[in-house]
Amino acid sequence: MTEINWNEYSLETQAIRAGHQRTHEDEHSIAIFPTSSYVFASAEDAALRFTGKKPGNIYSRFTNPTVRAFQERLALMEQGERCLAFSSGMAAIMAVGMSLLKAGDHIVCSRGVFGNTVLMFENYFGKFGVSCDFVDLTDTAAWAAAIKPNTRFLFLETPSNPLTGIADIAELAELAHQNGSLLVVDNCFCTPALQKPLALGADIVVQSATKYIDGQGRCVGGAVIASEEIIEKSVYPYLRTGGASMSPFNAWVFLSGLETLAIRMKAHCDNAL
Ligand SMILES: Cc1ncc(COP(=O)(O)O)c(C=O)c1O
Repeated sequence: MTEINWNEYSLETQAIRAGHQRTHEDEHSIAIFPTSSYVFASAEDAALRFTGKKPGNIYSRFTNPTVRAFQERLALMEQGERCLAFSSGMAAIMAVGMSLLKAGDHIVCSRGVFGNTVLMFENYFGKFGVSCDFVDLTDTAAWAAAIKPNTRFLFLETPSNPLTGIADIAELAELAHQNGSLLVVDNCFCTPALQKPLALGADIVVQSATKYIDGQGRCVGGAVIASEEIIEKSVYPYLRTGGASMSPFNAWVFLSGLETLAIRMKAHCDNAL
């Protein structure tokens, strides 16, 4: 079968088709694989898969077909190279910090972010020797002044929760890169239906799928979307070890949420206007 290049399709088509690997049952709706682990043909086969020398499923903390379908679909919709799903939006934010930061590093964060993000940076990363300065979302000079040689990343939400402040993603991405830092954007409020931070120069997007991606109040989940390099070298090893994975059932719910995302976001905007 010819490989489909989903990048050539609209977000609406990606949202209903991408990531679906139909099984031998020819199912219309995507299948759920509620399995903790997988069978191996032999001990050698298991060893090859566990060490990454052979592709294939290993263990559902870090490889599950339903979760993979969600990850592939959301990566395409965010115009990122790769996505990893997490058990919540906060688990996704924690994964970014745990995989990129070390003691002595520094974060610059917008003052207008979700309260638990502030607590995560100050109370938890702070406990391990990471410092954080908070600046006004729209004050570019303040962002520039806060950056230090050890600033690992700039972090913002736009629009911010709950004050709906709006940042210039492209400008702040340039500022971050000039200083050898990364820009991390929480794209929870707009979703990829309305805003694609990676296309504007951001390095990492985090999502709380709990909000508009599900849109129907059913599940808690999150995601990190970034380049293949950032995910493979930093975030994937952390997920494999840290284990705050998304369950196959939640991935299946979020996949159906993505199917109606564009139409729901349009309705939200029409109603608000
Ligand atoms: C902007 C934003 N980011 C992250 C989160 C955390 O997501 P979760 O509740 O899925 O852990 C929230 C939750 O309200 C949020 O509003």
